[in-house]
Amino acid sequence: MRRKLAAGNWKMNGTGEALTALEAIAGAHPAATVDLLICPPATLLYRAAQAVSGSRVRIGGQDCHAANAGAHTGDIGASMLADAGASAVILGHSERRADHGETDAQVCDKARAALEAGLIAIICIGETLAQREAGQTLDVVCAQLAGSVPDGIDGTQVVIAYEPVWAIGTGLVPTLDQIAEVHDTLRQQLIGRFGSETAEAIRLLYGGSVKPGNAAEIFAVSNVDGALVGGASLTAADFSPIVTALEQAAG
Ligand code: PGA
Repeated sequence: MRRKLAAGNWKMNGTGEALTALEAIAGAHPAATVDLLICPPATLLYRAAQAVSGSRVRIGGQDCHAANAGAHTGDIGASMLADAGASAVILGHSERRADHGETDAQVCDKARAALEAGLIAIICIGETLAQREAGQTLDVVCAQLAGSVPDGIDGTQVVIAYEPVWAIGTGLVPTLDQIAEVHDTLRQQLIGRFGSETAEAIRLLYGGSVKPGNAAEIFAVSNVDGALVGGASLTAADFSPIVTALEQAAG
């Protein structure tokens, strides 16, 4: 059975004082029955990992380079993230695809590097509003899935986050039927490619304006194994009820 995952993406937010929010999140769930992950900016990784040591919260990065080391000014290798205390990394977030022109092939290379470094790879995919309105959603997410996920994976080490670009940071959320349609399709695609044992181990997160007020209904949707949460992961007041809703969905 897939263990549910509540993951927070802090994006480019937070300096040292944000560690108090992290401690509050960890302190609110000392016996969490779901996996908890917070991905702070790279500058906070080491301190964040120290701050949650001994708690249920794990720490992740927000990107890594496809190479482990070398002449890549400003970049961070997957093993460096692991060395700083990360156990996972978000890859191919739509903001990186948009701001840095990341392609599926690059995301796939990064995922391979992350897995080799022992990190869980959280691979993000999702359609734009124009693509949804043109009826291309399933084609787009299936192409991204095919291109961004490496071959030969261990399903427990890969997480797919379905994040419609138009739902990120906007307060807009797809209907529950729309989420189910995408997640069910992704599961079928993964089964077709990797076989059911691997595919059934891969967790599928929904991301995009997940809030305390809508988390429970989203977590009741088939093939939703948790959430990747942006804005609402920055405080325990917002993130904790989302964690609790996920625990209730896990039963
Ligand atoms: P949001 O961001 O929850 O603020 O919409 C989600 C994400 O970008 O992962």
